[in-house]
Amino acid sequence: MIPFLDLKRVNAPYMQAIEEAAIRVLRSGRYVLGNKVDEFEKSFAAYCEAGYCIGTANGLDALTLILKAFEFPEKSEVIVPANTYIATVLPLSFLGLTPVFVEPEEVTMLLNPELIADKITPLTKAVITADLYGRSCEMARILELANGYNLKVITDAAQSHGATYHGKKTGSIAHATAFSFYPTKNLGAFGDAGAIVTPDKELAEKIRYLRNYGSIIRYQNQFQGMNSRLDEIQAAVLNVKLPYLDKENERRRQIASRYLTEIQVKNLILPPADRIQEDAWHLFVVRHPNRTALIAFLEANGIQTDVHYPLPIHKQEAYKEYRNLKLPVTKKIHQEVLSLPLNAVLSDAEVAYIIQTVNRFDDQT
Ligand SMILES: Cc1ncc(COP(=O)(O)O)c(C=O)c1O
Repeated sequence: MIPFLDLKRVNAPYMQAIEEAAIRVLRSGRYVLGNKVDEFEKSFAAYCEAGYCIGTANGLDALTLILKAFEFPEKSEVIVPANTYIATVLPLSFLGLTPVFVEPEEVTMLLNPELIADKITPLTKAVITADLYGRSCEMARILELANGYNLKVITDAAQSHGATYHGKKTGSIAHATAFSFYPTKNLGAFGDAGAIVTPDKELAEKIRYLRNYGSIIRYQNQFQGMNSRLDEIQAAVLNVKLPYLDKENERRRQIASRYLTEIQVKNLILPPADRIQEDAWHLFVVRHPNRTALIAFLEANGIQTDVHYPLPIHKQEAYKEYRNLKLPVTKKIHQEVLSLPLNAVLSDAEVAYIIQTVNRFDDQT
């Protein structure tokens, strides 16, 4: 069986260095906000070609902290993509802000910039873009619109470490960008971890307080903050892995490129191939009207797949007040998508087998 993602194999090349780095932290006596976090924040800010990085406990908190720092009044509206993981939207609910769902483009499955303007009201304060599957959104158009209406642009880059848009790294484009280092991500820790990256010095400073109870000087609290700090062991792991992120993304691009040129199946829609070298290929998401049969066929032939995601946010019990929204593109995408295995440790033989097997799928519909 080719597993969808084997984390043990993904981390194997770095295991010795990670074990040594983790043991050094364990023996150091300094476990939270020490020099491993400092080192990671500096190198990840530099990697993203952005000014500042603040480590957090996870990606959900990173988004929450950005929104908290902007201090939008309660009931302010924030434009969000209707096709995304629920973590893009939950922080709005924590802070009494209203999500305004916008349909994706059919081809990229990412926030459709052409549909944003119609949703802007006097209450709108921000747009959140989500770089789903490792691809940056149409940021030029979105920034132009946002600047015209004086809106903040926040990017959820939990899936797009190392991706670029017109040559600019995710993290250097929006007013603030949230990253997750959940173990399955392109840059994954050995537990939960996240970060905020921003070119805005003042915002970075405020978030630095907010992630630590609103405090920088011990027992002096400037703001009502959260406890969302990146811990030293996770930072040590990330320090070992960050130098290899570009090489791993390059391998992902090679595999994506082969899938895009060699997979050919009736009724199967491949992801867009116009930015192979810019996308981070966190996931390789194809669409098929008979997804269930394709998943079963691949499983029977030893290939595990996954679905990102089976049910849109507005159809989740947690957001039942939005269940009557009409979002046909979002609905269709959630019925048809499936993700093929794509990660830096797949061998050429496995890639070839996946291509041959997908191409053997005989759609009976
Ligand atoms: C698009 C997206 N946003 C946000 C998150 C939240 O990150 P975390 O799990 O680190 O809180 C994730 C990953 O889980 C994600 O895929």
